[in-house]
Amino acid sequence: MNGEFFLKKEASISVFDRGFLFSDSVYEVCAVIGGKLVDWHEHFARLMRSLDHLDIVNNFQEQDFYQVKKKLIKENQLTEGLCYVQVSRGVAERDFNFAKKSLLPTVVIFTQEKSILNNPASKSGIKIITVPDERWQRRDIKTTQLLAQSLAKTYAIQKGVDDSLLVQDGIINEGSSSNAFIIRDGRIMTPSLSKAILGGITRSSLVKFCQMNNIEIREQKINIDDLMSSQEVFLTSATGFVLPVVEIDGRNVGNGLVGDMVKEIQRIYLDHIKAKLS
Ligand code: PDD
Repeated sequence: MNGEFFLKKEASISVFDRGFLFSDSVYEVCAVIGGKLVDWHEHFARLMRSLDHLDIVNNFQEQDFYQVKKKLIKENQLTEGLCYVQVSRGVAERDFNFAKKSLLPTVVIFTQEKSILNNPASKSGIKIITVPDERWQRRDIKTTQLLAQSLAKTYAIQKGVDDSLLVQDGIINEGSSSNAFIIRDGRIMTPSLSKAILGGITRSSLVKFCQMNNIEIREQKINIDDLMSSQEVFLTSATGFVLPVVEIDGRNVGNGLVGDMVKEIQRIYLDHIKAKLS
């Protein structure tokens, strides 16, 4: 926290932190495989973008964050899981107006154990439901305003499935914490980048890796009919990698089993990612 290391139970921040009072903070989640970071450079670049979009004081260096992360991974003996970083605007008397205040940002970094490579859902696939997207309009900025996503995920679990897909006016946006892809008639499609969705790092890496393997991924608007008539569907995220979807709103995707193209895409993603851990 702010350049110092603490035991989990001893780390605490001010109740006047704007991250706590206003969700005035941004974050990144980076997977850890074999004690190494996945796509760290890209995650740092997105963190800088999020900070700049919100005009949060930003004098951060990639190398400083990297060293803290590597030390945490080592001290916590983390082989597989994630490294989380959150930067808030800082601590101030509660005031909606933050203009003209160059606060000192609060930085928190921690690790969490999680099974990623052997996550059973990557093999079996997951079941999802569609729900209305009720978030604010700047979803391209990775802020900690995650209540709508948290409600959507919890609602899915209460309905006996694994996750929710956020839909707006009949158009597919993304998963509660993932990007969405569909495969129809052999074509892979994902919603285009816009303010409506987060530009996922896994999404952009996958588009690149597929290109390198002469597999085209089209970025375009996807509506609910496209989704429901897909042969295969999958979700991508830093901690889920490529997760096949086998059921949507109680209906099978394809024959209800994980499809061959998704399996191939999982293989391509893993091969490339393993070659660029840091
Ligand atoms: N969430 N869309 C949303 C709304 C997300 O929250 C995430 C990631 C993604 C995928 O982005 P990436 O590939 O960069 O992880 C898309 C992270 C994993 C989280 O909040 O835990």
